[in-house]
Amino acid sequence: MKKDAVAIVVGPKGRGSNMLALAQAANDPDFPARIAVVISPLGDTAAAENARAMGLRLEVVPPEPLDTYGARLMAVLSDARVEWICLAGYTRLLPAEVLAAFPNRVLNIHPALLPKFGGKGMYGMRVHEAVLGSGDEESGCTVHLVNERYDDGAIVLQRRVPVVAGDTPEILAKRVLQQEHLAYAEALAKVIFEKTMSRDEG
Ligand code: GRF
Repeated sequence: MKKDAVAIVVGPKGRGSNMLALAQAANDPDFPARIAVVISPLGDTAAAENARAMGLRLEVVPPEPLDTYGARLMAVLSDARVEWICLAGYTRLLPAEVLAAFPNRVLNIHPALLPKFGGKGMYGMRVHEAVLGSGDEESGCTVHLVNERYDDGAIVLQRRVPVVAGDTPEILAKRVLQQEHLAYAEALAKVIFEKTMSRDEG
């Protein structure tokens, strides 16, 4: 089976649990993607260490200097012949030239049910604090396509969890994160499947 090449782009906090979940899913011979490269802004985060430990190709691409950031990312992405990009804990907007080169091929995971609780500055515990403050009875995670605005692209899939009396942001974050790990691999397989179907039909 031909596996599509994926880049996972992690952020500076770089815990990397979604990266690990994707890499583990990709180890299944029936999963339609392989992790061609992990791109990290720093070489010494937990995500970077885990990528090395799993034998994944790791490329450290710092955002500075910003004027060459897009070109440096593109060089890695073309060298690894990447077809899909999965953002996992990445908190910047991708440079426009990367988005232009990967139309409808960049995914992100967000720890709430978009379109609620998204947008600039909505990441980490702030998201879960906002959910708890809203009185909503459920939360969850969203995998969506990435465009030039924060948390704004088409939703690929969501998984839901209940908000439980006595939840703290940390407890809720943990419940959501378990679903993120299932959702990301499911969503990636889904977009690849849909792309294959539309190609075969066309
Ligand atoms: C996740 O909660 C994800 O939804 C958000 O950033 C966090 C990354 O966690 N975009 P990890 O680094 O994958 O553990």
